[in-house]
Amino acid sequence: MVIIASNFKTNHTRASTKEFISFVNEYLNNEKDVEVMVFPTATSLDNYKINSNLTIGAQNAYCVNSGSFTGEIGTQQLDEFGIKTILIGHSERRHILGESQEEIAKKYAFYKELGYKIVYCIGEPLEVKEQGLEATLEYIYEQFVGIDTTYADLVLAYEPVWAIGTGVTATNEDIKSVHSAIKSKINKPLLYGGSVKVDNVAQICSLDGVDGALIGTASWVKEDFVQILKNIKGL
Ligand code: 13P
Repeated sequence: MVIIASNFKTNHTRASTKEFISFVNEYLNNEKDVEVMVFPTATSLDNYKINSNLTIGAQNAYCVNSGSFTGEIGTQQLDEFGIKTILIGHSERRHILGESQEEIAKKYAFYKELGYKIVYCIGEPLEVKEQGLEATLEYIYEQFVGIDTTYADLVLAYEPVWAIGTGVTATNEDIKSVHSAIKSKINKPLLYGGSVKVDNVAQICSLDGVDGALIGTASWVKEDFVQILKNIKGL
């Protein structure tokens, strides 16, 4: 089954998130062939009424139940809304918020232990891509250090940093070569992310080794997101 995930990043209010979720939930009422995840901001997590293949996840949380970690949320806050899905290792957290591989691995182990579904992101920056496929794969494999890739509830997302939010989607060849290399080592669903759009989502999701997409910008307008879901119908 194709997996389509929307990462809101730092977008949407509580009100617009609620509208988005109920709009998507309604569309999915009659669509059972796609698994959909939405990652709103932490402030917009709530007890949404969902009766479809839609799951709400957290973009981030600290590896703790509760405590003194100013600015962070833990499982006490996630439990309030029944959140059991989390995004870990996103490049914006690695590069902008400075999360190290060690911290990411610790977070991964914590949420794995609690049985969360983990969407684990990997991907190389432009200067690594420019060095070729071998360097790219070497960089990506470093992002698996400390990560139990045999974990049952793991979904991977390959998101080349240079393709995120730039409008420059990776080419089919780029996607296929990285995905097949990762897939040969790790047998888990593997999403592609990085400038996926309404018009290219179907073509990307039908490539060999691509099990779905993790989408930022193009997913934030609810009508566009539903159009994305319509476009991948039947794959
Ligand atoms: P864009 O779709 O905006 O390129 O973002 C991709 C992404 O980072 C999803 O997590």
